[in-house]
Amino acid sequence: MRVKDKIAVFIGGGSDIATATAVKFIEEGATVILVDYDESVFERVKGSYAGMEDKVRKYVADARSYEGIEAAVKSALDEFGRIDILINCAGILIHKPIDVLTVKEWQDVIDINLTGIFNSCKAVTPGMKERKYGRIVNISSIGGRTGRPGVGVNYAAAKAGIVGLTQTLARELAPWNITANVVAPGPLKGRMFFGMEQHLIDGLIKNIPLGRVGEMDEIAYAILYLASDEAGWTTGEVLDVNGGAYI
Ligand SMILES: NC(=O)c1ccc[n+]([C@@H]2O[C@H](COP(=O)([O-])OP(=O)(O)OC[C@H]3O[C@@H](n4cnc5c(N)ncnc54)[C@H](O)[C@@H]3O)[C@@H](O)[C@H]2O)c1
Repeated sequence: MRVKDKIAVFIGGGSDIATATAVKFIEEGATVILVDYDESVFERVKGSYAGMEDKVRKYVADARSYEGIEAAVKSALDEFGRIDILINCAGILIHKPIDVLTVKEWQDVIDINLTGIFNSCKAVTPGMKERKYGRIVNISSIGGRTGRPGVGVNYAAAKAGIVGLTQTLARELAPWNITANVVAPGPLKGRMFFGMEQHLIDGLIKNIPLGRVGEMDEIAYAILYLASDEAGWTTGEVLDVNGGAYI
């Protein structure tokens, strides 16, 4: 029961990573609030929560809209009185060379993958400060850790930006016993990965020392650790979970 009685909000709550992690959180005692901008994703993931429905809430909000995320946070506070844990999973990828990438495609990825994280961190912070407790885990990517061929500059910039945002947030919020950490996954067995072009997939696997793509559960356990009290003295860190591939 590593997150017993905790209230955990997942932005991008319909994502593969959020689903794998939220199920573990429930098994470890938490109630989870899934926030996603597309109601239909909840239909897609509902089978994963069979028999645990009383531990799940679903809110529709767009990570790009501060007002929308603030309203979702308020709904959670109205029902539960607190948010203990925030997990930021919302993300899209548009991998194109810079000369082909449009200004809109640059902005869309920055807005969802980076500004979306700012919005939710800002929205939960006042309540966490009041209660002098909080765990924030932001999902970056191997694509933001080192330069990689085939990764869009928009995605790399957003994912590297998450690291800077989180490291600074960690120092800013430490006096209130709020930790903020990053998990930076390598390629995983999920929809985002299999939606990538085959030559990119082949290139990624070739460069993974452990010789395989990661399982969603292998990220879920990393998030669970950073969200638990076991990680109470860990803040501003980046946990690279990538089969050894990031160097
Ligand atoms: N899957 C991987 O291999 C991998 C590797 C490294 C990093 N990541 C990162 O982990 C995170 C989750 O990845 P995943 O593969 O589980 O994602 P996914 O593609 O399964 O789901 C992404 C979710 O984000 C939601 N979303 C998109 N735009 C949104 C918005 N504006 N507001 C609210 N929700 C929005 C989508 O509806 C979807 O449910 C992403 O940030 C991704 O960049 C994934």
